[in-house]
Amino acid sequence: MKNKGIIGSIIALAVVLIGVFAYQMGSRQNTAETDEGTDEMQTVGILQFISHPSLDQISDGVIEGLKQEGFVEGENINIEFLNGQGDQSKLNTMTQQLLNKDSDVLVGVATPAAKALANGTSEIPVIMGAISDPVGADLVESLEKPGGNVTGVNNLAPVAQQFDLIKALFPEAKKIALLYSSSEENSQAQIDNAEKMAQEQGYEATRYAVSSSNEIAQLAQSAAEENDFIYVPQDNIIANAFQTVINESDKTKTPVFVSVDNMVTEGGIATIGQNQFDLGVETGKMAADVLRGNTDAGNTPVNVIDYGEMIINEKKAAELGITIPEDIKKEATMVEGE
Ligand code: TRP
Repeated sequence: MKNKGIIGSIIALAVVLIGVFAYQMGSRQNTAETDEGTDEMQTVGILQFISHPSLDQISDGVIEGLKQEGFVEGENINIEFLNGQGDQSKLNTMTQQLLNKDSDVLVGVATPAAKALANGTSEIPVIMGAISDPVGADLVESLEKPGGNVTGVNNLAPVAQQFDLIKALFPEAKKIALLYSSSEENSQAQIDNAEKMAQEQGYEATRYAVSSSNEIAQLAQSAAEENDFIYVPQDNIIANAFQTVINESDKTKTPVFVSVDNMVTEGGIATIGQNQFDLGVETGKMAADVLRGNTDAGNTPVNVIDYGEMIINEKKAAELGITIPEDIKKEATMVEGE
């Protein structure tokens, strides 16, 4: 009888011990799972179309924008960065690579990169980095309600203000060359606007469309010889070989009016344009929003940035014999490029 009691107690104790043990194992597993959940790094895939100072700064800005929102590379996110070097087939393979890395959000810097990403997935959110014409390039249905899995930053050149500055800097000019690359959808809208504006203001505007970077020198030369000044939009191929344009235009002392701050410091005469790094920061913030759980890109309005800063290259103006009116000088940021 006594023994039975003891055996009973031992069994009871064993059951309790096993229970406690099992419970602890269970909860340990649970903690392990939740730990993994919170520690798991999210991945940001960035695809840049080509190298030129503006896109390089935008990509740097994306990383800074993520950081400002608390997403730091190596701490809580992995950043996979790839550059297509202007090659469409590379953009497509790189898109697959970024998808294979299980990216949680994709960022496309410049139109061809954003398009490659958008064509590669209809699920992972794609954030557009500084895209000139998202609707025209078929990336979104509308700026307010993009639809699909794409949203991001749309930067527009303030063409009307640019032409006010053009008038003030070159009061005698009659003939404008519009220099851009025919393959870039992002340049089309800006060139259409600039052409319309030029004609309304009584200029004679001629298009010089390069079909590859090999043609830039020759077309820039004709543009410079045949016109009073050259207008360059936010065109990636031209930006990538901008020095070639300046080499040609310098020969005839023809000013080149540009659409981005970096091209002013590289020898352009002036712009009303956006700080490229800041555009990247805004793009990075939208990517952070996805990482925080807003995966509904289709209902997230595009961030349209259409203002610009006036920047004038004082050294170039002196070289070309252009007088900068005093009131404009006061308003502008003066730089000394190239
Ligand atoms: N907006 C361009 C596009 O959609 C990309 C771009 C941003 C760009 N900043 C630029 C191109 C400056 C040339 C220069 O592709």
